Amino acid sequence: MRSENDAISVTIDLMGNKDLPEILAIEKESFVSPWSAGMFAGELKVAHSQCLVARLSSNKRSIIGGYLIFWIVADEAHLHNLAVKKEFRRQGLASGFMNVMKDISRQAGVKAQTLEVRESNTEAIKLYRKCGFVVKGRRPLYYTDTQEDALIMWAEV
Ligand SMILES: CC(C)(COP(=O)(O)OP(=O)(O)OC[C@H]1O[C@@H](n2cnc3c(N)ncnc32)[C@H](O)[C@@H]1OP(=O)(O)O)[C@@H](O)C(=O)NCCC(=O)NCCS
Repeated sequence: MRSENDAISVTIDLMGNKDLPEILAIEKESFVSPWSAGMFAGELKVAHSQCLVARLSSNKRSIIGGYLIFWIVADEAHLHNLAVKKEFRRQGLASGFMNVMKDISRQAGVKAQTLEVRESNTEAIKLYRKCGFVVKGRRPLYYTDTQEDALIMWAEV
């Protein structure tokens, strides 16, 4: 990955409390109703919550390019949050996260992955379809902020 002519290496790492200020900035630029700091901190305490960040490092600095949170419950993986910093979108970061989620899920004996996505979020729906997810259901007016339906997508592991 390249930005401002610097070579950048990408490492997927565990999220920690120290990452929350950067994560909250990405969250705010990504969602109509962003999660609060308390919601992220809560996820970090849940044993079955997998909280990951992409650390982008150059010779000058290391920053967070995006994050993924999913739960493994019994033999299902549930995606709870995924966002990529605007300046690093369309460079494969989210696809990389989805591959990592699948790998971790497979190692944990998970049979299927699921998620909910706003019907209007065409970018994310394209990403998920590309990763093998298909729409299997709908939750009417699930998003109360925009009165929007959620599409329920599933993929086998
Ligand atoms: C959706 C999101 C996570 C994608 O992240 P990303 O790192 O840019 O995605 P990738 O580069 O891995 O893209 C993978 C595929 O997704 C689709 N895609 C991603 N962004 C797209 C866009 N703006 N327009 C059309 N298709 C898009 C494409 O099929 C793309 O493959 P391609 O680049 O070969 O065409 C990012 O746009 C984001 O953070 N959006 C705001 C938060 C959000 O909506 N999260 C999902 C909540 S359910």
